[in-house]
Amino acid sequence: MKKVMILSGAGLSAESGICTFRDHDGLWENHDVMEVCSTQGWVKDRQKVSNFYNDRRRDLEFKEPNHAHKILAGLEEAYRGRIIHLTQNIDNLMEKAGAKDVIHLHGTLTDLRCEACTGTFPVGYAPQEGHETCPHCGNKRLRHNVVMFGEAAPEYSQLHQAIRHCTLFITIGTSGAVIDIVPIAKEFKHSILIDPKRQKIASIYDPKSYIDEYFEHFIQKKAGESMDDMMAIIREHMADRF
Ligand code: APR
Repeated sequence: MKKVMILSGAGLSAESGICTFRDHDGLWENHDVMEVCSTQGWVKDRQKVSNFYNDRRRDLEFKEPNHAHKILAGLEEAYRGRIIHLTQNIDNLMEKAGAKDVIHLHGTLTDLRCEACTGTFPVGYAPQEGHETCPHCGNKRLRHNVVMFGEAAPEYSQLHQAIRHCTLFITIGTSGAVIDIVPIAKEFKHSILIDPKRQKIASIYDPKSYIDEYFEHFIQKKAGESMDDMMAIIREHMADRF
């Protein structure tokens, strides 16, 4: 059965006004990633890290899903059970667009996590103020539900599941800096890369120069402008019985 694996990154939310990490003027140009998104930074200054996520959570309330979020959310309905969307994004714009099954590989900004029982619970756009207690176990040591550098990302096992069971791989708006998309593309006969920028391959030992050379289709457009091209390929893929 034809199934689609979608891996999205910060570029998917860029047109909604959420800055990416590694583009010019991205989040990591304006913040030291090791101070606000690493286990060392968390141990060194919990309040600084919590403030960083409180600011991003507060801003998220006023962000709206863009055209690409809405098209991708619609795929769930159109191809029920045959779309696996894994996102590196911690925003809730896919959910605001109506999606229900998105797998958040790096956590969710609108939830907190208990450091005792690891249970999570929704806080919406409210700041973590320090007096909250875990609704599951009553513990007071809570944290942002975002995966930091230096700790495990438990949902990554679902990446491997998707690679095994899907027939078309689509990646939208990710530099591949954290999840290398080239080895995944090599596992698929059919694949689409959506990014307005051609990303060079970092390794000097790789015979190819650009990431898109490992993809069957390269749509060099912003996410919002690429949807018609992407949908045409998906429709053809899903209609083809073999
Ligand atoms: N549409 C599509 N792609 C876009 C757009 C857009 N409008 N604008 C930028 N891009 C592309 C950029 O060219 C780049 O390739 O999105 C990608 C963003 O790359 P990064 O900023 O590295 O973001 P991402 O790949 O999601 O980062 C992965 O790194 O810091 C960690 O946990 C963080 O989940 C994040 C991970």
